[in-house]
Amino acid sequence: MKTIRLLLVSLLFTFSLPLFALSPEAVRDAPSAAAVASAHPYATQAGHEILEAGGNAFDASVAVSAVLAVVEPYSSGLGGGGFWLLHRASDNYEVMIDGRERAPLSAHRDMYLDKHGEVIPGLSMDGALAAGIPGEPAALAHIAEKYGQLPLAKSLAPAIKYAREGFPVTEHYRRMAGFRLEALRASPESTKVFLKDNEVPPLEHLIIQADLANTLELMAKKGARGFYRGKVGKALVKGVRKNGGIWKTKDLKKYQIVEREPLKAPYFGMTVTSVAPPSSGGVALLSMLNILEPYDLLQMDETSRIHLIIEAMRRAYRDRAEYLGDTDYVNVPVSQLIDPEYAAGLRASINPEQATKSSELRGVQTQEGGNDTTHFSILDKQGNYVAATLSINYPFGSGFMPAGTGILLNDEMDDFSAKPGVANAYGLVGAEANAIAPGKRMLSSMSPTFVSNGERLAIIGTPGGSRIITMVLLGILDFAAGNKVESWVSLPRFHHQYLPDTVFHEADAFTAEQVQALELRGHTLKASDNTWGNMQAILWDKKYNEVKAASDPRVEGSAQVQQ
Ligand code: DON
Repeated sequence: MKTIRLLLVSLLFTFSLPLFALSPEAVRDAPSAAAVASAHPYATQAGHEILEAGGNAFDASVAVSAVLAVVEPYSSGLGGGGFWLLHRASDNYEVMIDGRERAPLSAHRDMYLDKHGEVIPGLSMDGALAAGIPGEPAALAHIAEKYGQLPLAKSLAPAIKYAREGFPVTEHYRRMAGFRLEALRASPESTKVFLKDNEVPPLEHLIIQADLANTLELMAKKGARGFYRGKVGKALVKGVRKNGGIWKTKDLKKYQIVEREPLKAPYFGMTVTSVAPPSSGGVALLSMLNILEPYDLLQMDETSRIHLIIEAMRRAYRDRAEYLGDTDYVNVPVSQLIDPEYAAGLRASINPEQATKSSELRGVQTQEGGNDTTHFSILDKQGNYVAATLSINYPFGSGFMPAGTGILLNDEMDDFSAKPGVANAYGLVGAEANAIAPGKRMLSSMSPTFVSNGERLAIIGTPGGSRIITMVLLGILDFAAGNKVESWVSLPRFHHQYLPDTVFHEADAFTAEQVQALELRGHTLKASDNTWGNMQAILWDKKYNEVKAASDPRVEGSAQVQQ
């Protein structure tokens, strides 16, 4: 494995970049097969079932999201949110469905600080006060209604079945539940559903979620109202308020998804399409690609290439910390940040031989990566496609489930900057742009992305907290190098996020010689005990009319292509 990984690292940098794009006539406009790659085999299977039942990629995205909400309760769910990036083949229309959580209307900027102005540990992570107003139910109803071909009820059916009949506990489930055992034990409903005898359940134990099945059935009948109004809405507000939270009925009634224009930019003859704020992902990706574009990455030695990529990461994450937040609330200079001229200024500060200390860059006060959240990629035979990254933030979110709802609530409030300069769960720091305000969306790193050079299309994304963006960057560079989809998802990973001033890397990402060479250039390196990410990707090669999909070998996902 180690040798394979090292080989992949060098392949990343030795393949030539395809600078040509085929003329449109030369490429096929409908794929030979459909593909679904997701973090769970049941979700991937449900996606294909819906496609076979006459649904399009958008219907399948509803089914996959809903099944993941049931079988990956540690990653995403109706109690959370996410971003769905859609491409419609009939008119090449692309849109980002922003189903990100919002701060409750009674939230205020200092709500997680004590009377001395210090952050109270855990308050934005565990329990009812940590939860933003969920966006996933509204997003699923919207996607089904506006973009789908099947009724919502049909696309929710597989999820309802798994909630009623149960799914078996896996190794990964056990790891996640072990990690959040205390938060789950603090909630009687979560304890009942997700634990057995107050402990992490054994392998193969069936997790049955009858309340969640009822809530999904209400949604199947009434759409988003089945969640935000009526019986479920009332029980959510009641449960949250009884347990120290501040939700009001109005919060649920007022929740709205937003359709946003995706960010797009050229890179080496390719078009990269990614998400706009409130994700920082698109801005940071395009900024890093702009910084890197003029370098002749192919002609330089590996250490220099890795060095430059790290320096690009450092600069993009500094800007993330200072400028990025919810554009419905604060002014974010998006067009400046993704402008190649601006990137030229950033590039000018890079020393090709020596690491820049983060402290030498203009200061800001900003997060590290986790192991939950979820991403999936879908392509249907009409050529519609979806990349979606969904989250409840920490594993099992806030751990809290209001009685009678089956809804495990997120702890996405931790993605706000509780206090300028104080790092959140991922070690990220933020500034005023990401301060808490009523109804505001918290800044995200989730980066569902499409990359196309005319003849090859990548549909790509991953979970991983603050490391999402750099994982997607490495995936894009690997795609640009002409490598296979299996390579993008398994490639060893490294990451720099400005603060802390450290290059984090998977244990086998660098050889001992590379570690030494990077240290000589002034980088501080830290090998991780764990692997990161759970990338799910699809490649549509239009020239050869071939569809390939791959699921990150690090976790339990499944990628399937159906002719
Ligand atoms: O929106 C975000 O950036 C985070 N809430 C994502 C968290 C995440 O990816 C955790 N796990 N891997």
